[in-house]
Amino acid sequence: MRNAVIAFAPGRVNLIGEHTDYNDGLALPFAISEGVTVQAQPGRTGWIDAHAVDLSSHDSFALDSPGRARGWRAFARGATAELQTAGCSLAGTKLRITGTVPRGSGLSSSAALEVALCLALLAIADTEAPERVALARICSKVENDWVGAQTGLLDQLASLCGERDHALRIDFRSLEVSPVALELGGYTLVTLDSGERHANAGSGDGPAEGYNQRRAECEQARERLGIESLRDATLDAAEELPEPLAARVRHVVTENERVEQTVAALAAGDLPRVGELLDASHASLRDDFQISTPAVEATVQRLRAAGAAGARIVGGGFGGHVLGLLPPGTEPPPEAVTVAPGPGAHLLS
Ligand code: GLA
Repeated sequence: MRNAVIAFAPGRVNLIGEHTDYNDGLALPFAISEGVTVQAQPGRTGWIDAHAVDLSSHDSFALDSPGRARGWRAFARGATAELQTAGCSLAGTKLRITGTVPRGSGLSSSAALEVALCLALLAIADTEAPERVALARICSKVENDWVGAQTGLLDQLASLCGERDHALRIDFRSLEVSPVALELGGYTLVTLDSGERHANAGSGDGPAEGYNQRRAECEQARERLGIESLRDATLDAAEELPEPLAARVRHVVTENERVEQTVAALAAGDLPRVGELLDASHASLRDDFQISTPAVEATVQRLRAAGAAGARIVGGGFGGHVLGLLPPGTEPPPEAVTVAPGPGAHLLS
């Protein structure tokens, strides 16, 4: 057991490749500098005592039977339980959690919280962390089985594998993560809040329902096409399906292509082309995947009116932030936040 540790895990922006991760597809996210910090120190034997500072909220639970809870407590309990299920030994710990990623923003505060919790719990117990893909899977189980969001591995891999100045081309079939230099030649990337909060998990209707429903539709389409995943789907095959399944598949197939085209455009330094691809991604997410909202559309329009070369909704959809690519010299809307790729999750002490 160590005396004290501090773990930091970043949120992420997904440059392009949305709703492709759970379809064995491609995405191009990067870790941002905003994130979640978890301080850990030795605590009562057999117990976790956690304090979510920003929420002025506490939780205490037994290491060997964390039990179910809602909200941020589901993350703390889930991380504790899933690490132990994966064979990692933990110890009685006091946790102090703070964060700078706005919750429900589409910048993945959830993955940042899961990853920072896991790193802190492992480090304070002096237990070696599983390798990054295995740890991403553990964090994703927390989200799927404890929080109730049927999300994929995008956010966790981006948070764990992020590299300064690079986006990550992730192939969700092979789980190969390849850094791609994000050289913007004077362009800047900004996010602008739509003001609408989204949640990928929950009960009842609303945005949470939307995310899980899209995932279920992709699964239905896959079954009907008789293929292993929508990575193998084609536009011709999609047209055989009834709506809205055909449209969902169209989005996934064209979005995978746009990821490859964006990697090529970045390598060629062709930023106007990157902007066009962001616009095309947004159109596909709005029209075929149908995860935009009037507030999101208004936010996209604000970025375009400011002179963005391209703008699109990021994350699970149904609210959250919009990403814009601004040419050199463009004045962003006042509340826009500039985002740049930072390092992945790490221990600060
Ligand atoms: C959320 C999920 C990710 C991914 C995106 C959409 O961020 O957590 O797994 O599905 O939505 O690309």
